[in-house]
Amino acid sequence: MIGKGSALLNLGILVSGRGSNMDAIVANCANGSLSAQVAVVISDNPDALALTKAREAGIPAFCLKNPRDEGEVIALLDKHGVELVCLAGYMRLIKQDLLQAYPMRIINIHPSLLPAFPGLNVQARAIEAGVKFSGATVHFVDAGMDTGPIICQAVVPVLDEDTCDSLSARILEQEHVIYSQAIEKIAQKRLRVVGRRVISL
Ligand code: GRF
Repeated sequence: MIGKGSALLNLGILVSGRGSNMDAIVANCANGSLSAQVAVVISDNPDALALTKAREAGIPAFCLKNPRDEGEVIALLDKHGVELVCLAGYMRLIKQDLLQAYPMRIINIHPSLLPAFPGLNVQARAIEAGVKFSGATVHFVDAGMDTGPIICQAVVPVLDEDTCDSLSARILEQEHVIYSQAIEKIAQKRLRVVGRRVISL
């Protein structure tokens, strides 16, 4: 069972870019639809818009001095009492140190219906491949790239006239919904992981 059962689940959000998923999580914490609070935001990119937005929202936000060193990330997460790590557009593979420090306590949002289209440029690859549906996936993070057990997914159509931008926007809208839904299930301890399957209780 996942989730420690305190009143609010303490989140640590790792970002590299604009942070729209972070924004949605922060908003849902603020409006009470998430039983969670954002304790810290960490970026590997000093220019990430997400860092500015987190600071404006009064959230402790840090840029890593040495992005390859997971020890620095772990120390910041521990210091802020983080119970669940949410990757939100974080452009680095998570390595063993962090995985071991937060076993089954790191989740990610990905803009495709995994296991289809892991990795980068996935909306363009979905259009090129001619799929009629794509979507978004929230999954636990393991040592692979976008390979961990799937918590929830949202499906969106791929339209004949879609460009990478239009498909990305349609998927992103769903990302903002399902990421918070997945976090809330963890906060409410309503998930159990059995092998690769994540069962809703
Ligand atoms: C999202 O599409 C997410 O699925 C992917 O990176 C993008 C981050 O966007 N992992 P944002 O920074 O949350 O706006």
